[in-house]
This record gives sequence, structure tokens and C-alpha cells, in this order.
Amino acid sequence: MPRKLKALLLENIHPSAHEILAAEGFELEILKTALGEQALAEKLKDVDLLGIRSKTQVREAVLAKAPRLLTVGCFCIGTNQVDLGAATKRGIPVFNAPFSNTRSVAELILAEVVALARCLGDRSREVHAGKWRKVAESSYEVRGKTLGIVGYGHIGRQLGVIAESLGMRVLFYDIVAQLPMGNNAAVASMAELLAAADFVSVHVPETPQTKNLIDAQALAAMKPGAYLLNASRGTVVVIPALAEALRAGHLAGAAIDVYPQEPESNVDDFKTELQGLPNVILTPHIGGSTSEAQAAIGREVGTALAKFIKTGATTGTVNFPVVDVPAVRGAHRILNVHRNVPGVLRDINKIVSDHDANIQGQVLATDAAIGYLIMDMEIDGQLSDEVAGAIAALQTNIRTRVLY
Ligand SMILES: NC(=O)c1ccc[n+]([C@@H]2O[C@H](COP(=O)([O-])OP(=O)(O)OC[C@H]3O[C@@H](n4cnc5c(N)ncnc54)[C@H](O)[C@@H]3O)[C@@H](O)[C@H]2O)c1
Repeated sequence: MPRKLKALLLENIHPSAHEILAAEGFELEILKTALGEQALAEKLKDVDLLGIRSKTQVREAVLAKAPRLLTVGCFCIGTNQVDLGAATKRGIPVFNAPFSNTRSVAELILAEVVALARCLGDRSREVHAGKWRKVAESSYEVRGKTLGIVGYGHIGRQLGVIAESLGMRVLFYDIVAQLPMGNNAAVASMAELLAAADFVSVHVPETPQTKNLIDAQALAAMKPGAYLLNASRGTVVVIPALAEALRAGHLAGAAIDVYPQEPESNVDDFKTELQGLPNVILTPHIGGSTSEAQAAIGREVGTALAKFIKTGATTGTVNFPVVDVPAVRGAHRILNVHRNVPGVLRDINKIVSDHDANIQGQVLATDAAIGYLIMDMEIDGQLSDEVAGAIAALQTNIRTRVLY
């Protein structure tokens, strides 16, 4: 009987992923915690699939001790806990879930838009402290107000759609031309957006261009009495400049979920210059942290891993050329990862023709380091194993396996 594939799932990965991988025939070992380098290397000796979240470090030394490892799933957004270059060189695709928490972030921002317009944080804190301050001053409806979205990607678009349902006018600015959703409207420059918006919400990635994007100058360009919201990345907003704009009364409030320096784990002494300022909502990077997002992450990464195991598809990887070919009936599928040097396909096709093998389909994608080939061969006795064996013996081979 063929050996069952083994999956090691660490850090309390959502059960939605367990179900998908178990249905794929995996024997699962599930741990609630992360593992250190030694313990992980020991476990990975006979593991085919590793699932982690953000705490487990998967470095070259660990990968070197995992001879069977086919793929790594990061059940989170970030992938810098994995040495991606080392994984690529070993022919191991790494998957993550960049968009499973899009809705959660958009909903939080929308709630904060209303909360800022009503100074909810301050009023709530006052009543908790026994103070009754019934005021209408500085309290507004959001209907008819303008929301300016900087970065109209997955989150920006989702936010734009739900903000309109509250009767807000939505403008957006993006460096890439984007299709407006609903009545959302693009503006030509960030300056135009900053000058027009009552609420500015930032949803850009962390890049050299977005570092300090919202600095003193950008804040000064915002309308007096406007609000700033940032749940993108901590490097995008210059916090001392924001604190100054709030203290000076130029801005009426802010909601901040991400910070230039964030603690690795929960602490009791987190410091930011924004603490204690009026109408400032501070949250500990929880934009995407909901039960629904965790379940969606389990499904998204679990499905991508299962598809890779079943068909070789690499859609959704962060370190591999993308090939996605539906499974073919009546064929054997050979997967080959090789160093990307000239002549590899010629060598492989020579092996195929020397064996008189009948190829039904062949798809190759490459990046700077590797080539990834999916080849479907007509079923013919032991031939697929022989062809795969000859391909695996090539100097350029990183990894070759017959899938079915
Ligand atoms: N707070 C949280 O918990 C949380 C959760 C999920 C995502 N995020 C962060 O939210 C941000 C947005 O995520 P997303 O999924 O919408 O990303 P996305 O890649 O779908 O969209 C980002 C958009 O920003 C645009 N952009 C890039 N540089 C720009 C610039 N200089 N000016 C204007 N637009 C620019 C891009 O063209 C793209 O359309 C990311 O930084 C992500 O890390 C935070």
C-alpha cells in the first residue's frame, strides 16, 4: 500500500484547513504552538506538507532536514518567516492568504468612520469613568460626507462599496488605473483627494514609495477638521507629524491600527505618541483579525495546498512560477522543477523522444532562478517512471515527481 502523505500543522491553524487536507488523504499532526528550529527539523524528517502561521521560522537549515517536504502553507498574510529563496531552490512552493481578511478590514474602517464622526471613543471612555458629557458639538452624520481612499486595491474597493451604502461620496486615488465600483470616482492626484475628503483612509502596500506617504505636508493638505484612518502598514504615516496635526486641531481625529514598530507578541507597555490625544482610536493591528477571516484563511490556503498536491498547480504561491493546468484523464502527470539555465527543455524533450513517449500536454513557466514544468503523458506501462527517472537524473534537476 502506498505511504499516506503526512501534514504537520502548527500554531492552531483553523479547522477549515484540517477538513480540506484530511479529505485529500493527508494524515494530520496538529499542534497548537509554534516549534523551534531543532524540534521542527526533527518533525519534518518525514513530513510532506507543513502549515504554519507567523511565529514558526522556516530557515534554510530546517529545509535542509526536510527531504520529503513538498510545500509550505503560511496560514496568514506575511511570508517573511520563511526563507523563500531557500524554499525555491529546493523546489518547494510557499502559499499564503493575502485576501481572506479584506472584508474584515473594510468593516473595521467603516465602523471607525462613524465612531470618529461621533467621538465615540472619547464618549465611551468618559462614561466608563463616571463622567456624563451629553454633547452634540463636533458630532456629525457621515451621510453626504466624502471618503477619500488612497490605494484602491482589494480593501480599498470593498470599503468604497460599503461606504456608499451609508450615503457617503467616495473618491479614490491609486497609482494604477482601477475600475471604479458603484459610484466611486477616481481622482487624478493624491493632492486632489486630500483637499476634497472629510475622511482619508489609506490602503496601500508597504513599498519604498509608500514609506512616509502621509507626512506633515500631506496632513497639512487635508481639509481642516478632517479625519485620517490607517490600517495598511505602519511605515505609511509619520506618527509625530500626525500627533502634531491633531494637537494643533488641524485634524479632528484619527484611527490607527498599524504602527512603525509593533510588539512581536501581546505586551502591557506599548508606547505611541498618539496616546491620550482626543478622538484618536488606537487598535493593536486587528484590522484583519476576525473569526470569519481565520476560517477563510484556512480554506484559502488549504485549498491552494490541496490543489498543488492534486494537480501541481502553483496559483497563489509567493516564490514560484505560476502554472495551473487542470487534471487530465488517461494521462500520467510529471512535475519537474529545474534550475533555469538554457537547454533544459531541449534535454527533457530528448528524453521524451528517446523513450517514444506520447506527450499530451506540456506547460513550462520560469522565473530568474527556476523553471517549473508540468507534463502530461499518455499512460503506457512503466514508461512514466522511466521518463521521470531520466529527467530527475539531469544535472539541472531540483525535484521531479510523477503525480498520478
Ligand atoms: N490592519 C490589518 O490587519 C491588515 C489586514 C490586511 C491587509 N492589511 C494591509 O492593507 C494594505 C492594503 O491591502 P490590500 O489587500 O487592499 O492590497 P492590494 O494590493 O489589493 O491593494 C493595494 C493598492 O494600493 C495601490 N498603491 C500602491 N502604491 C500606491 C501609492 N503610492 N499611492 C496610491 N496607491 C498605491 C496599488 O496599486 C493597489 O491597488 C496592505 O498594506 C496590507 O498589508 C492590513
